[in-house]
Amino acid sequence: MRRRWMAAVAVTVAGMLTLTACGGGGNDGAAQSPQADAAKKVEVFSWWTGPGEADGLKAMKEIFEKQNPGLTFFDAAVAGGSGDKARALLTSKLQADTPPDTFQGHAGAELQGYIKAGDLEPVNFLYDELKLKDVFPQQLVDQISVGGQIYSVPVNIHRSNVMWFNPGVLKDAGVTEVPGTIEEFIAALEKVKQAGKVPLSIGSEWTAVHLLESVLLGSLGTEAYNQLWTANSDWSGPAMTKALNDYKTILSYAGDPQDDWQPAAKQVADGEAAFNIMGDWAYGYFHNPPDGGLGKTSKTDFDWAPSPGTGGTFMWLSDSFTLPKGAPNRDGAVAWLKVAASKEGQDAFNPKKGSIPARKDADTSLYTDYLADALKDWGSNKLAGSIQHGVTVNDAWRTAINEAVGLFQQSKDVAALQTALADAAKNSGQ
Ligand code: GAL
Repeated sequence: MRRRWMAAVAVTVAGMLTLTACGGGGNDGAAQSPQADAAKKVEVFSWWTGPGEADGLKAMKEIFEKQNPGLTFFDAAVAGGSGDKARALLTSKLQADTPPDTFQGHAGAELQGYIKAGDLEPVNFLYDELKLKDVFPQQLVDQISVGGQIYSVPVNIHRSNVMWFNPGVLKDAGVTEVPGTIEEFIAALEKVKQAGKVPLSIGSEWTAVHLLESVLLGSLGTEAYNQLWTANSDWSGPAMTKALNDYKTILSYAGDPQDDWQPAAKQVADGEAAFNIMGDWAYGYFHNPPDGGLGKTSKTDFDWAPSPGTGGTFMWLSDSFTLPKGAPNRDGAVAWLKVAASKEGQDAFNPKKGSIPARKDADTSLYTDYLADALKDWGSNKLAGSIQHGVTVNDAWRTAINEAVGLFQQSKDVAALQTALADAAKNSGQ
């Protein structure tokens, strides 16, 4: 109590001083004594800087600042879809014991890595205070827990296995049915190629791994895919060889790699490309008004279906926020986590982000169009975890997969890719 009161005094004094920005995407404001500034500023580390995804963060930031007038949101986001660049910087900050106040971490194996490294404080006190165990699915809480200690606050559920497509481009190419299997997909890609459009748009390197996870799920089937992360995995057998050959064929229809996922998705919305396999953050980008998104019309400019061969399975991932040990502004971080955990925070963030809430009690009327489909499928489909977005593999294993796929994009050598993936699994120590 006393500590809170002291913090409130510090904040009030800080509020009376004027001048200088705290940097990042934080307030333009007011130069203050370093101590007062530190007490105010809450450094939130993510990779949501680009069009589409920044809109969701902004919506949650607004609620945070409204509810916490004494605190300033300091946006420490590092650009680059999927966070590969952000995580590299985060690792060095954690190793140097200079963590941000809170950072984004994927539920599942990625988060387990931070827990094992001793980087995080448990947040059971928040789950007790806010009765969060009643509102988050138990299977999600399991993914962020070790030995009964819970280590993060999930803000959403994203779907990875989405095939976005441009209905007009398909029609012009004579593709009359939305491809449901890998074979149908390859036939459709060929038709689009003949029609002179980009069959499949692709972005920076990680988007090739994103594509790989959808192809593995579609080619192997859900059960065999889910076994890849267990002691019964089979990375070396003929089913995997077939899946990787499918991947090679599909990749051969990819256009020039774009800088990140947004320009690749845009090629579909603009009618330059037919297909893009990307997570549903692309929905936020397509759909949000033009000050952040593309303001496109659903079903006309873009449409969606499960990635080929994966109908009935929801390949999921979840963004969650953490409380790092030694957070400089721990109280501020806790205030952020409370907003991220809240129904109001999640219902502001997710419709903009293109995700559905992690909470089970969200206002479903806010989730329309693509998001209504996602809510329905999340509640009824089989589940599989994403590779690239931290569910099934920790950061070291994911990095090994990324390297193998990077080499494959040059060599196109399926046997070498299969060996590298099998080695990555064997050496993962996960
Ligand atoms: C994922 C993240 C999503 C989205 C995406 C593209 O890893 O979980 O929220 O940001 O990367 O950047």
